[in-house]
Amino acid sequence: MSTELTAPAVAGAHRGDPLPQELLDDSERMTREQLVELQLDRLRTTLRHAYDNVELYRKKFDEAGVRPDDCRSLEDLSRFPFTTKADLRDTYPFGMFAVPMAEVRRIHASSGTTGRPTVVGYTENDLSMWADVIARSIRAAGGRPGHKVHISYGYGLFTGGLGAHYGAERAGCTVIPASGGMTARQVQIIQDFQPEIIMVTPSYMLTLLDEFERQGVDPRSTSLKVGIFGAEPWTEEMRREIEERMNIHAVDIYGLSEVIGPGVAQECVETKDGLHVWEDHFYPEVVDPLTGEVLPDGEEGELVFTSLTKEALPIIRYRTRDLTRLLPGTARPVFRRIEKITGRCDDMIILRGVNVFPSQIEEIVLRTPGVAPHFQIQLSRRERMDHMTVHVEARPGTGPDQRDAAARAIAQGVKDGVGVTVEVKIVDPETLERSLGKLRRVKDLRQA
Ligand code: DLL
Repeated sequence: MSTELTAPAVAGAHRGDPLPQELLDDSERMTREQLVELQLDRLRTTLRHAYDNVELYRKKFDEAGVRPDDCRSLEDLSRFPFTTKADLRDTYPFGMFAVPMAEVRRIHASSGTTGRPTVVGYTENDLSMWADVIARSIRAAGGRPGHKVHISYGYGLFTGGLGAHYGAERAGCTVIPASGGMTARQVQIIQDFQPEIIMVTPSYMLTLLDEFERQGVDPRSTSLKVGIFGAEPWTEEMRREIEERMNIHAVDIYGLSEVIGPGVAQECVETKDGLHVWEDHFYPEVVDPLTGEVLPDGEEGELVFTSLTKEALPIIRYRTRDLTRLLPGTARPVFRRIEKITGRCDDMIILRGVNVFPSQIEEIVLRTPGVAPHFQIQLSRRERMDHMTVHVEARPGTGPDQRDAAARAIAQGVKDGVGVTVEVKIVDPETLERSLGKLRRVKDLRQA
């Protein structure tokens, strides 16, 4: 390390110590009452801004018979209509922008699986707020000024790379903008540049881990101390796998383009108990995915977000499709947490009437000896019935008997834990597709 200032901070980050009080920002030090007052004030401003400047919101509010001034308490928000991905698609590309284009400093887009991408925009203030919430996330993860941050989230229209980039700079860190891909070179750069922190999807981290091993480098011997993983669901089993193989802290970062990008919620390294929502900028609700009714804190449902400070793209009650529940704050008492997200409403596979999430399969695969953490789910039709095949890679050196045992253990685990019969095929090492960013776990061959 180059300065005295950073050396103890690195050690602190490594132990997972709490953030020293003096490193908390003003919002993190608020009381819950102060926060609620701030939220209501910002919410009313946002509703007014959306109604006055976005035709779609004006139409929707009018149809629902609500006006921005009807919001007198945070609970009143439930009277306002939801916004969905379809609304953004229907107004493609810029129909939901609430400021003149000359004030929009940047555009991002998320590709989505079908049809038009969803397009989002940021004013100068939006970009600054975004950098602030990511800087706060990096501090919560144990990052300190002077740390080097290797960013392997993709740079480009995806919000991961550039979002993390400006946040890490704002946190006073030194950025290594690696982006995704060129895996062999990334491993070389990590060895040569000695970053303390890596920001990457958990599935691409596994790809990097394999590459370390392929190059004969012990992944536990690197300079890395913390990984900030997000952009896709990952389980506690995956956390254990990565932490043990790399000897780092693995913490979760959540976000979505429509709300800002990464940095909506972040897990604190000292507790690793779910993600604190940066509620001074993003107001969370959890609703019943079928009825849309708001659920009390603690109950599981679909996460919904309303932005509180965004200018270019105010977002009102956005249906994320992500499933979780709201919990009280711990390491940052003023902010509520969301439980680690392990599935989306639209990730759910209904197999012969039983709901199955890929994360449930992940848990079972990762606790089975003899197999690698690489798997893929294939859905097909056999004799008019849906059929699920789980392809799992053997670890190198696993013999035929061990492979059979692993296949049986996984099939039994799924039968006992999830309640469905699946076929398990153990395939040779290095044969399944590797992630270069966000991984698609499920291949649906039922239409083909
Ligand atoms: O994935 C933003 C992001 C980039 C978050 C880098 C974290 C790190 P989108 O491409 O719009 O934005 O995808 C958003 O990804 O609704 C979730 O379904 C999923 N997702 C994001 N973070 C997590 C996470 C970015 N930590 C969608 N756990 C969201 C589970 C996540 N799912």
